[in-house]
Amino acid sequence: MVRQSRKLDHLKFALQLDDGPSSNALEDMTIVPNCLPDLSSDDIDLSTTVAGIVLPHPVIVNAITGGAADVTEVNARLAEFARITGCAMAVGSQYAALEDLTVRESYQVIRKVNPNGFVLANLGAHVSVEEAQRAVDMLGACALQIHLNVAQELFMVEGDRKFAGYLNNIEKIASYIDVPVIVKEVGCGIAREQAHVLSKTGIRGIDVGGTGGTNFLAIEAARSGISLEPGALAWGIPTAISALEVASVLPDTIDLILSGGVRTPLDVVKSLILGGKAVGIAAPIVRSLEEHGLDATVIWFQRFITDVKRFMLLAGTMNIHGLQKTPVVITGYTRQWCSVRAIDITRYAVRKHGF
Ligand SMILES: Cc1cc2nc3c(=O)[nH]c(=O)nc-3n(C[C@H](O)[C@H](O)[C@H](O)COP(=O)(O)O)c2cc1C
Repeated sequence: MVRQSRKLDHLKFALQLDDGPSSNALEDMTIVPNCLPDLSSDDIDLSTTVAGIVLPHPVIVNAITGGAADVTEVNARLAEFARITGCAMAVGSQYAALEDLTVRESYQVIRKVNPNGFVLANLGAHVSVEEAQRAVDMLGACALQIHLNVAQELFMVEGDRKFAGYLNNIEKIASYIDVPVIVKEVGCGIAREQAHVLSKTGIRGIDVGGTGGTNFLAIEAARSGISLEPGALAWGIPTAISALEVASVLPDTIDLILSGGVRTPLDVVKSLILGGKAVGIAAPIVRSLEEHGLDATVIWFQRFITDVKRFMLLAGTMNIHGLQKTPVVITGYTRQWCSVRAIDITRYAVRKHGF
């Protein structure tokens, strides 16, 4: 019962609270434009491959909900949005449904609505390999997201306090289950030291889940009626900086995904230029569906994708592979961060435009 009311609280406060207070740091990235693109709009191809899964475009509806009867309708709407727009979609943590069969429908509804969609299962890093496989099977998922959310748990009154053994467990799950594993944060970012050790576990993707968007410390503080100091609310690594950290150690076999405050078409293009194979967006999609309905949200998304294509053409490239060769100048706080962390950002600035 506590878990079911928590799911509703998370949705309620995620819809009420603003992004931040930290930014996603993508404002520190300036794409070097190409005024001679030698392309036409029809040439732009948004398809991408994440963890071996071919997607029509790089926007993933990131993990949001499931686990209470009252959120079944929310997941049905998200799945309908994903079906129409071709977005891959992750569900919220399925741990609730491993313990309580009566809430399985709140997740499985997405398969009824979108039988052929790209669906990602989602669990925490403490589960057993059998539980991980059951979560995947419950949805016929094409990948499993394992979320890391230590800060959220610590600020959650009823949250976990024991986090030992996660790395080994992720390795066990990645070697046991029959779909690729993607590790994600939920809004505090991932540093290169942890990305490096995670890259040895057999996972196929890292979603940095940095600051700048939904803030689970703010959500947990609102749930428990406490106020946190501004420094605490800013805990974590901004999304773009986390991407630079992770990219500095990631082998080619593991795909980078950017999420946490990805809000605009330009945010998407910058994320792909930083090496992302995809982006995750959570709160804005569920908020738009709740406030404006399905049709308006689909129209918003279609315009969003059109603008992503516009900025790709302006960057002089026709596909995501080409974006990863596009020069971008990194300034401001991000530049200072990378300087003291000895992350080479010149290599991004001296790239040569290309397809
Ligand atoms: C209401 C809500 C519930 C969420 N629940 C989960 C979850 O169960 N598992 C998870 O990995 N991430 C969860 N997230 C985090 C998102 O997947 C995403 O990492 C985070 O919201 C940052 O993206 P955004 O700024 O676009 O919202 C949730 C997000 C929201 C808004």
